[in-house]
Amino acid sequence: MAQVIYGSEVSKDIRTQLSEQMEALRGAGARMPKLAVILVGNNPASLSYVTGKEKACAQVGMESELIRLPEATTQDELMAVVRRLNEDPAVDGILCQLPLPRGLDSAQVIREIRPDKDVDGFHPINVGKLHLKEDGFVPCTPLGCMELLHRMGVNPSGKRAVVLGRSNLVGAPVARLLLNENATVTICHSKTENLPQVCAEADILIAAVGRAKMVTAEYVKEGAAVIDVGINRNEQGKLVGDVDFASVEPKAGFITPVPKGVGPMTITMLLKNTLKAYRQHEGE
Ligand code: GUN
Repeated sequence: MAQVIYGSEVSKDIRTQLSEQMEALRGAGARMPKLAVILVGNNPASLSYVTGKEKACAQVGMESELIRLPEATTQDELMAVVRRLNEDPAVDGILCQLPLPRGLDSAQVIREIRPDKDVDGFHPINVGKLHLKEDGFVPCTPLGCMELLHRMGVNPSGKRAVVLGRSNLVGAPVARLLLNENATVTICHSKTENLPQVCAEADILIAAVGRAKMVTAEYVKEGAAVIDVGINRNEQGKLVGDVDFASVEPKAGFITPVPKGVGPMTITMLLKNTLKAYRQHEGE
């Protein structure tokens, strides 16, 4: 039977520490860290994610500003908002919620965000720094996965790690983080042959494909650490992961649930990245 590792609990610990750090800054009369979030349009899922980010900032005592722009916003208008936030010395972190409405170019927006305020870690400069093992901003979901692995007491060094999914948001950066911690990493995707057998060699299995309950027991090595990044809705509208929890849990050594797994960690890592940006801006 696997030990179930709740990201919701790990998040609570980290957010308590962040609250204490905020309190210390406030007590010292310092400027407070601030996150600016841009939401274009009315996508309900995006609105709910953005609300979660705002609430998390408030919960730890960090400042935040939500900039809501209409669906019909032009690329030039959006770029002008990013530039204004780039110039604002009160703003430490800038996040533009993705996906953007049709017709807007997210790559261009991401490139416009100052790399030292890019708390999403999506700017090519930060992507490059991750690959060069230089200090920069690392995307929040991959950071959350690594934090959960560490909480499991799993040291990736020398281990076989398999990442299911190669997205820029999760698969590619989490594979690089595992490599940077000396795991032997395989990235699997839609063209991978013998997928269950490849996955079943993993001591560490990260599932980030976006296919409900795809990972069954045959994909999992006895005692493996399984991290489920999937957020899928089933026919009943219930949240389910990429991992078939009921089938995998008896075989794995560690497993993260959905919900209450990686999801809460992502926002917590965003808070950590914003505090890191703040400390760099303050010259600490
Ligand atoms: N949409 C889904 N996940 C993310 C994320 O981590 N950052 C941004 N900016 N948009 C997202």
